[in-house]
Amino acid sequence: MKKYLLNLIPGDGIGVDVIREGCRVLDALAQKHGGVKFEYNDLPWSCEYYLKHGSMMPADGMKILRECDSILLGAVGFPGVPDHISLRDLLLPIRTGFDQYVNMRPIKLLPGLSSPLKNEKIDFVVIRENSEGEYCGKGSTDAEKAVQESIFTRKGTERIIRYAFDYAVKNNLTKVLSATKSNALNHSMVFWDNIFAEVKEDYKNIKSSQMHIDALAGYFIMHPENLDVVVASNLFGDILTDLGSAMLGSIGISPSGNINPEGKYPSMFEPIHGSAPDIAGKGIANPTGTFWAIAMMLEQLGEQAMADLLMDSLCKVLLNKEVCTPDIGGKGNTTGMSDAVIAEILN
Ligand code: NAI
Ligand code: MG
Repeated sequence: MKKYLLNLIPGDGIGVDVIREGCRVLDALAQKHGGVKFEYNDLPWSCEYYLKHGSMMPADGMKILRECDSILLGAVGFPGVPDHISLRDLLLPIRTGFDQYVNMRPIKLLPGLSSPLKNEKIDFVVIRENSEGEYCGKGSTDAEKAVQESIFTRKGTERIIRYAFDYAVKNNLTKVLSATKSNALNHSMVFWDNIFAEVKEDYKNIKSSQMHIDALAGYFIMHPENLDVVVASNLFGDILTDLGSAMLGSIGISPSGNINPEGKYPSMFEPIHGSAPDIAGKGIANPTGTFWAIAMMLEQLGEQAMADLLMDSLCKVLLNKEVCTPDIGGKGNTTGMSDAVIAEILN
């Protein structure tokens, strides 16, 4: 029996619901497979934990987290704890501490979903820099002035751009588009553009281009069919992918892989949405982003057949609006939708 140990951080709000359903789906996949078992280490790190202990995770949290095959995260953040604490004291230390410098975010209109856009040719990936840039946390604040710094290193910028080109080559995609804003950000984004120009020389068969982030936001809406691979800094990639997920009909749909490509540390998979305090406890969170994130995790673990079975089962369920959650026009709820996916898996 092959065993995978997963560290779970359900977090807050609907994060808890979607991770619970994610584990049920994983158990169903294991049952169907017959030769695989998932073991879970359920970690209570969350805003509730913070209010009790004064920190988002224990002092040896990173040591505990490292011991696993992969990490699954729901969402963190809840009213009562400032958002910059929940993000900066838990999520960002994991992403940077485990050198998960690639944030992979597929934006694809799955069968059964309908986009608010007329143009439904939506199938591309945003590769977001995940270790530095605008989210480096450096700066200062006093009564009169706040300074927020961005740090772009050659190493950090080059490796993410190179990863985007390599991803295009590996997946037979023909275009890489860089998100920039070098007209206004005369240091960081000029530096980014220069490295993009250098790296693209090594990939002559890929059509490369760049666009300012404001224009690119419009382009997402007007011409999604022209996008293959978009490479973006930490902040730009964050914003673009919430937009991308909304283009699929709901922010509950898109997954995210925080990946350490070298495999030196575990990678972490999560839906892109937050803890949604407005619907927490109502049982109507869409679990799609979490299931898709789990499929990405299985792919990374080398379990392609299980990943495919999960995505096929999910796509079948998305066609049945009776069981889907209300955010995508359904009449169902989180548990019912998950039950339907499990039934398809075991079918
Ligand atoms: P959010 O993603 O939690 O919610 C935005 C809107 O989308 C809400 O109306 C919510 O009900 C809806 N929504 C989100 N996920 C959904 C799902 N699975 N199914 C159906 N509807 C869904 O973003 P918001 O409101 O900006 O943030 C809420 C909290 O989450 C904050 O504390 C924020 O810091 C945190 N957050 C955490 C993230 C993470 O842990 N990776 C990411 C984004 C936000
Ligand atoms: Mg975001």
